[in-house]
Amino acid sequence: GKAGYDHFMQKEINEQPRSLRQGLSERVDELAGEVDIGDLAYLNPRGVQLVACGTSYHAALYGAALFREAGVPAQAFLAHEYASAPPPVGDDLVIGVTQSGETADTLSALRAARSKGATTLAVTNVVGSTAARECDHVFYIKAGPEIGVAATKTFASQLTALNLLATGMVPTKDDRESIAALRDLPADVQEVLDDSSAEAVAEEYLDSDAYFFLGRGLQYPVALEGALKMKEITYKHAEGFAAGELKHGPLALVTANTPVFALVTGDGEQARKTIGNVKEVEARDAPVVAVTDGQSDVERYADHVLTVPESSPRTAAVLSNVQLQLAAYHTAAKLGRSIDKPRNLAKSVTVE
Ligand code: M6R
Repeated sequence: GKAGYDHFMQKEINEQPRSLRQGLSERVDELAGEVDIGDLAYLNPRGVQLVACGTSYHAALYGAALFREAGVPAQAFLAHEYASAPPPVGDDLVIGVTQSGETADTLSALRAARSKGATTLAVTNVVGSTAARECDHVFYIKAGPEIGVAATKTFASQLTALNLLATGMVPTKDDRESIAALRDLPADVQEVLDDSSAEAVAEEYLDSDAYFFLGRGLQYPVALEGALKMKEITYKHAEGFAAGELKHGPLALVTANTPVFALVTGDGEQARKTIGNVKEVEARDAPVVAVTDGQSDVERYADHVLTVPESSPRTAAVLSNVQLQLAAYHTAAKLGRSIDKPRNLAKSVTVE
């Protein structure tokens, strides 16, 4: 059942501290500053291709960025595009990111990769799923069953699993910090859930024409995911943009009736640049909702702040996403939408 919640989606959002703890348990050795991903640590890929659809594609974009950060060429592909024109695969490891393990497009992409001789790895939630059975290797995200059509806790677990895989396959000098942040992640997510003011934000902007989401680097996939969640359960127009793209077209859409969610964590170059974009939308009178850990001065330009605890860049993405899940959920709830079964959508898309 829904364990006292109004919707499965709400239950699953609130379950994230537990589902993340489950996915991390026995996989992080904090004393040694290492992660344990078993034999997958020896795959030693020359390059990585990730294939996925929807929310899982956003996780794949994040995973690709992590491998690239560690010096391994990596790219995420929409599975349907990949399957219809597979790129050269060489010695690349091909990772299928699929919660259900049954998405037809993702299975086709993985089959195309295998037929070209690639080694394949399924990152999935479902034990014994088709992807788990057909791939050479499998890594379970261990999120537990997800009933809501909108993927929430499984996205958090996918990001975390890809973090573990990238760290385990390609160790780097930054691992200690990001492993410590992984240890704190479940408690940090709990803090977001306990303190979020996303419901007030949802209330204030209920009548908006559209919702925009801006992110850069590891926060770019989170911006895409925030928009997907908003559109699928509220039926409102929502778009996620790479913050740097704003001036190349999307800025034309920005008005006083299009709230902009800006993902700004840390105080580095990326935060500074995204704050530049925030100033641009503010100058067009758009309401700004900053999702921030308070390390930069983005609050000065924001109408609302959704706070996340300070963390590493990798885990900051997971934490920021929880605020966007809540913003979408509360908007849909106030609009009286069919949150667990949005119109026209199915939990698992088993036809191409
Ligand atoms: O089971 P999969 O992860 O392969 O599903 C892929 C997409 O259909 C899925 O992520 C979809 O976009 C989400 N349910 C949307 O919330």
